This record gives sequence, structure tokens and C-alpha cells, in this order.
Amino acid sequence: MNTLEAIEQRRSIRKFRDTPIPDEVMEKILRAGTLAPSGKNRQPWRFIVVGQDKRAEIVRVMREGMAHLKAQGVNLGSAEWTAKVLEQAPVTVFVFNEYAEYAQAHRDIGDALMDTVDVQSIGAAIQNMLLAAQDMGIGSLWICDVFYAYEELCAWLGQTHQMIAAVSFGYPDEQPNARPRKTVTEVTQWL
Ligand SMILES: Cc1cc2nc3c(=O)[nH]c(=O)nc-3n(C[C@H](O)[C@H](O)[C@H](O)COP(=O)(O)O)c2cc1C
Repeated sequence: MNTLEAIEQRRSIRKFRDTPIPDEVMEKILRAGTLAPSGKNRQPWRFIVVGQDKRAEIVRVMREGMAHLKAQGVNLGSAEWTAKVLEQAPVTVFVFNEYAEYAQAHRDIGDALMDTVDVQSIGAAIQNMLLAAQDMGIGSLWICDVFYAYEELCAWLGQTHQMIAAVSFGYPDEQPNARPRKTVTEVTQWL
């Protein structure tokens, strides 16, 4: 599969088969992540891989965090649906920013700007992983609903660094249509 085909054909997958992903395949996906460009080549990404044997626990922790927010009257949006995806994904990779702490009270503008650079680099790493997975017939879902259980998940994963996202991977059990996109004309101004 060439790169443009992978970009065209990738979809967010929310139904996975139970077939495990071999470690060597996951390593290829993670390596693709590490090949992403990064501001000042800082390579701020850090990955924690949660496999099938730990997924029930991670979903329990996510639901615990969601329940705390719900009790405070927070609207959980799509989070409950996303928790169900996590529940059946053979692998979920949690992605952290090595250079930012979760709770940073006083940061100067330089740090704050570098944070923005690092988050862009991590976005590139995640997209590389999605495309590498697509190339190998593996579906993926980029997940930020994990923020509804931010503290609980960071604590369970033993992380004080900034959590950026989670990405679930598995062999697809659905073939969703392409979601609508704004046209190039709508989003571009040529000068
Ligand atoms: C930063 C980011 C966060 C996302 N978080 C979630 C999520 O928590 N749950 C979910 O079901 N989809 C999530 N998605 C997937 C988007 O809903 C999806 O990419 C979008 O609807 C376009 O569909 P497509 O990926 O199939 O092209 C996220 C995507 C991105 C890029």
C-alpha cells in the first residue's frame, strides 16, 4: 500500500476482532511513531502499551474516572461509547509527553510554547502509527475521551507526565464509510 492509499483508506475503527496483534507487528507500529519529525528532534513521545490481559482493568479505571465526573454533573459526551471500544481493542497505546508534567502550576512562556511544539510532534507520531497500522491491515482509533478519567488513568499507569491521547489498535470488524470532509477550497486560501 502506498502512502496516499493508506491516507485515503484509513478510518477510525470502533469494532475490533478479538484476534491478538503479534508483538512484532506492534513494534513496527511503534517504530513508525518514533520516525515522526519532532521540533528540535526532541522526540517527546512516550508510549505505554496495554495488552489484552490488562484491558479490563484499564476500562474499569476509565469508568471510575467517568463516574467521578458524572457525579459532578459533567456531560460525558461520547466517552461511554469510547470505553466500549477500549473494552474490545486487543491493544491500546497510551501516549505521554515526556517534557511536560500533568500538573504544572507556574510555567514561563518559553515552556508553554515548547509544549505546543512537543504536542505537534506527538500528533505526528500518532498519525504515523495510524498509517503504519493501516498499511498492515490493522484498524485504529485515536482517543481523547481518556481525558474523562485523566487523573485515574495517569495514576494507574504510574505517570506524572502529560497524557496526550490513547490509541486503540486491532483487526477491524467493521468497514465504516468515510466521514465527511471540508473541501480543500473551504479550508484553503491561495495568495
Ligand atoms: C485528537 C483526536 C481525538 C479523538 N478522540 C476520539 C475519541 O475519544 N473517541 C472516538 O470515538 N473517536 C475519537 N477520535 C476520532 C474522530 O472522531 C475521527 O477521526 C473523525 O470523526 C473522522 O473520522 P475518520 O477518522 O474515520 O476519518 C479522535 C480523533 C482525533 C484526531
